[in-house]
Amino acid sequence: MPISKRLLLLTSLIKDANKGVFDVGSDHGYLLLELYHKGFKGNLKGVENKIGPFSNLSKNTLNSPIKVSLSDGIDDLTNDYSCLVLAGMGFSNIAKIIDNHKEKLSYIDQIVIDAHNFIPESRKYFINHGFEIEEELILKENNIYYELISFIKGNENYSEEEIVYGPKLLKKRDEVFINKYKEANQKLVELLSKLDKNSKRYKEIQNEIDRNILVISK
Ligand SMILES: C[S@@+](CC[C@H](N)C(=O)[O-])C[C@H]1O[C@@H](n2cnc3c(N)ncnc32)[C@H](O)[C@@H]1O
Repeated sequence: MPISKRLLLLTSLIKDANKGVFDVGSDHGYLLLELYHKGFKGNLKGVENKIGPFSNLSKNTLNSPIKVSLSDGIDDLTNDYSCLVLAGMGFSNIAKIIDNHKEKLSYIDQIVIDAHNFIPESRKYFINHGFEIEEELILKENNIYYELISFIKGNENYSEEEIVYGPKLLKKRDEVFINKYKEANQKLVELLSKLDKNSKRYKEIQNEIDRNILVISK
């Protein structure tokens, strides 16, 4: 099966992880297999906490040096890995996985995430845990927008606008980024028409629309 554009772009964010990549929620192992086939020399490990995906992961990586484990989050993470991948999960799961073993962040130089919701909260979370944003990519696949974020250790400060829209995405303001907020605004305008003009919600939505317009027209 050909690898998705999202997973391909995720692997492009992993540039130098000499000590290895630890992929939580590896599923079929496609990301690790792509890294291996690209000639990545470091350790590669995929973790799954469910039997079904774990069996796919084990089968697909059988004839490769990729290590696998049926375990939860980063329970199994050792300092043989310096790059952590958390992709295709909601923010609360990502935060829970880290919260269970905050001490293990000391092994990690890079965290690559694809959070399926609460993206600003995800940025804030890793910034509050001693990371800064190294790179961000936005893509649309199967009608869904994804924001892929690479964090490295650092203490850069960010404005509220950068937390919401992404500092690197804001700088690039590429076509996909502009379209994401144009489409979001179409839905928000529709929602506004159903709300009471004097309600708090109406004002919040109106503010969000205005903020999106400002950002995409800069
Ligand atoms: C939607 S899939 C995403 C798979 C792949 N990472 C991707 O981005 O395409 C999420 C995977 O994470 C696994 N998962 C969720 N929570 C986990 C945890 N705490 N530890 C290990 N795996 C987990 C699920 O079993 C599922 O296979």
